[in-house]
Amino acid sequence: SPLEDSAFTAHGNDAWVSESREQLRANRCVAIPTETVYGLAANALDAQAARSIFETKGRPSDNPLIVHVSSIRMLRSLYHLPPSQGDSQIAMPFLGTNNAALEGQHLRAQLRSAEEADRKQGGDGVWPEIPRVYHDVIRRFWPGALTLIMPRPPCIPMEVLGGHGSTVAVRFPSHPVARAVISACGLPLAAPSANASGRPSPTLAQHVLHDLDGRLPLIVDAGACDVGVESTVLDAYSANAYVSEALSPCILRPGGVTYEDLRSMGGAFERLRVYRRDFTSAEMEAHPTTPGMKYRHYSPNAPVFLYVSKGAKGDAAANQLVQMQQTLGQLGGMRKVGIVTVGNSGSFEAPEQIELVEIAVANSKELAHSIFALLRRLDEVDRVDAILVQGVDDANEGLAVMNRLGKAASHHISC
Ligand code: TXA
Ligand code: MG
Repeated sequence: SPLEDSAFTAHGNDAWVSESREQLRANRCVAIPTETVYGLAANALDAQAARSIFETKGRPSDNPLIVHVSSIRMLRSLYHLPPSQGDSQIAMPFLGTNNAALEGQHLRAQLRSAEEADRKQGGDGVWPEIPRVYHDVIRRFWPGALTLIMPRPPCIPMEVLGGHGSTVAVRFPSHPVARAVISACGLPLAAPSANASGRPSPTLAQHVLHDLDGRLPLIVDAGACDVGVESTVLDAYSANAYVSEALSPCILRPGGVTYEDLRSMGGAFERLRVYRRDFTSAEMEAHPTTPGMKYRHYSPNAPVFLYVSKGAKGDAAANQLVQMQQTLGQLGGMRKVGIVTVGNSGSFEAPEQIELVEIAVANSKELAHSIFALLRRLDEVDRVDAILVQGVDDANEGLAVMNRLGKAASHHISC
């Protein structure tokens, strides 16, 4: 089954696999590609390894990390490991013992007895460690761009959880390189996006190098990430902790797996909600231009102007282009301006002294795939003074990319 497959054999002897393994098992960070964005990975069972992730990217230590696994078996086994002792958790009864036969035997016995205990209590004996509400979601969307909030296995140290003690975020990535590295280590890997904190997430190895050069021993380069935005974070386990509504699944962060995809699971997912902690459309309407500093995230140095469409489709697009043209007229004093349009290339007229860098993408999916790379290119290569981006509607890939753009933008213009 693809959920149990380690996907490791094809690359087992490659130098990058053994080098990653060596670094990660020594509790150092390695940047690895995933299908969403590049991740800054380290041993999720070791407190010091987790701390070095936070240090390397300058991340606030209260923002919890996602734990990446390469099989359901690895995830289930976490619930059978002894509690975290803080540092140096490398000697595990199951994971990474170098003795595959012994490891397999030991683990199978533990998992089987958990299944048996579950059946005795009237359960179906399937994945008893994993909340039931996730079983079908896992079958449908894993491996992939979906992170699930689960009960905390005691072996995961507090440092990984950013002090939020009762849950852990878990993802089973589909990228063959990510899966090969995780299964070669025999360890779950904690990994945030491999950007310097506050910068756009990296979708190319060069982006990681730009932000973190000299701060980590190895970056594994597998070219551009497919999805381009981070995974969707879904909480169907502790969903009632976030709002007072009756327990229903909640998207904590929109991402690679869409709201529509998850809704189509039916059942409890018909009541799927999207949690908008720091950005509601009501807020956006009340304060069309938010002060830059408050929501700086995913941010290039140049100010980002985001044109949010409100009206019917065709009208909205026309309005956006008119407003973008208007802004251009007001940017006197600037030398170079980047413009990103979606589904149409407006013909813009800039004041004489302004050089335009125009980029047209086809649709929301294409925008999601390339947004971080575009922001970085305009900022780091073209060195523009401002970036104007035509927003898209919230359907499908639009929700995640508008969430990221909403945080990157210092100016929100309703159209
Ligand atoms: O696509 C991705 O998810 C990438 C790749 C590398 O896998 N990783 C990523 O990690 O985006 P990061 O650290 O940049 O974002 C993790 C998100 C944060 O919004 C964090 O607050 C949330 O997941 N998170 C982590 N643990 C959580 C928990 N126990 N409860 C609620 N949210 C959690
Ligand atoms: Mg991030």
